[in-house]
Amino acid sequence: MTNLIFLGIVSDMHITIIGTGFVGVVSAAVFAKLGNTVTGLDIDENRIKALQKGKVPFYEPDLEKLLVTTQKKGNLSFTTSYEEAIPRADIIMIAVGTPSKKSGEADLRYLMSSIDSITPLFKEKVIIAIKSTVPPGTCDVVEGHIHSILKDKKIKLKKFSVVSLPEFLKEGTAVHDTLHPDRILIGASDPKVIATLKKLHAPLKAPAIVMSPKSAQMSKYTANAYLATRISFINQIADLCEKNGANITEVIKAIGADTRIGEHYWYPGLGYGGSCFPKDVKELASYAKEVGLRDNLLIPIDKLNDERISKLMTRFEERVGGWKKKKVAVLGLAFKPNTDDMREAASTKIVPRLIEEGAIVRAYDPMATESARTWFESAGIKEGDAFQIVSTVNRAVQDADIVCVVVEWDELRHLDLKKISKLLSKKAFFIDMRSQYARDKVESFGVSYIGIGV
Ligand code: UDX
Repeated sequence: MTNLIFLGIVSDMHITIIGTGFVGVVSAAVFAKLGNTVTGLDIDENRIKALQKGKVPFYEPDLEKLLVTTQKKGNLSFTTSYEEAIPRADIIMIAVGTPSKKSGEADLRYLMSSIDSITPLFKEKVIIAIKSTVPPGTCDVVEGHIHSILKDKKIKLKKFSVVSLPEFLKEGTAVHDTLHPDRILIGASDPKVIATLKKLHAPLKAPAIVMSPKSAQMSKYTANAYLATRISFINQIADLCEKNGANITEVIKAIGADTRIGEHYWYPGLGYGGSCFPKDVKELASYAKEVGLRDNLLIPIDKLNDERISKLMTRFEERVGGWKKKKVAVLGLAFKPNTDDMREAASTKIVPRLIEEGAIVRAYDPMATESARTWFESAGIKEGDAFQIVSTVNRAVQDADIVCVVVEWDELRHLDLKKISKLLSKKAFFIDMRSQYARDKVESFGVSYIGIGV
């Protein structure tokens, strides 16, 4: 065991993290930094080979540096072997994907197959901590599954605990969020297990909130559902502002001064995307239907978000006089800034719609060029005359009739409007889909501004 003192507190456990996706790799690197001996485990051999060489298979600021340092110190390693990584682990964290089924319900097949693999191998008194977002009650299901495997395989009964340890990190700031969390949420009941998990997280100096696994899992869904609802709410108010001439930016300033409300986290725009909000809201909405709560708020929230981009595109289409044969610069392809993640990105709805309507699209993203190419190709959208991903903003906006700012990357929030206006065609439009620009400023360069809620 490594014995490193971090901020005066020792954290020196053997941890195996199953699933080297976003949450798995970030958690592995951070727990290794805290002085633990961490093994990242995945069945994807290519991914593990890359990680062993210090290569992160997606873009996340500061992650690769942390990965390399902790690997060099000997605190972090990666493997595809359950036999190697499970028997030595004091804590097994499960961070596998839990995609939604067609019905909206969470698909737990990867979680259950990892339980199949670890059960014959884990040591006495191991803590199995579920980091993946799963429905309340999953810890009991997993516990029952382990007992039935032990019985079927005639393995001597071992002591183990299944707990919930949800993750609240945001893509783009994941390393910082994990090192400086607002809180640590521990869903467990055994006092010894709680003490171990508190010790593990102690170096992070964040308040630890302890509750039942069901409450912890419900809390994770609730946090995401609340933030998603907040975004949908302000978008609804923005739509009303557009009808009556009020300005949503001013409205947010006014309501934000109320300390109960706050000005943060509700710029109006295209609705929420990414790997968490759409999926988690759908899962809660589907759960509400299943338990007979058909008037649950999350059902219309999910529907509003699913339909938002299509409705906005129709609204923009009317304002620009149709998309047909128009040259459109699409600025920003990832689902948000500082990531190359294309999951539920607004661009994946906007670009196909523009192409379908006969526009000529030149798209640009500061980081997501490769992942966007892969996404569009797999959706059957090939690059050619109608659609190209280009390497600079200038190339995207050259001779464009319409500029769409789809993602608020820093580079795209501070465009040189003077320079850009000279590259655009005459009577061009600038559609500010993330509410980052002032109408007056854009229009002072002779370009028509179209915003949301203004
Ligand atoms: C989210 C949660 O914030 C995080 O706590 C959880 O663990 C995982 O899900 P993430 O998906 O990385 O994290 O992104 P976030 O920055 O929260 O944005 C989610 C979506 O909401 C993005 O599509 C973003 O563009 C949108 N959004 C965010 C808005 O439309 N308006 C806002 O004011 C904020």
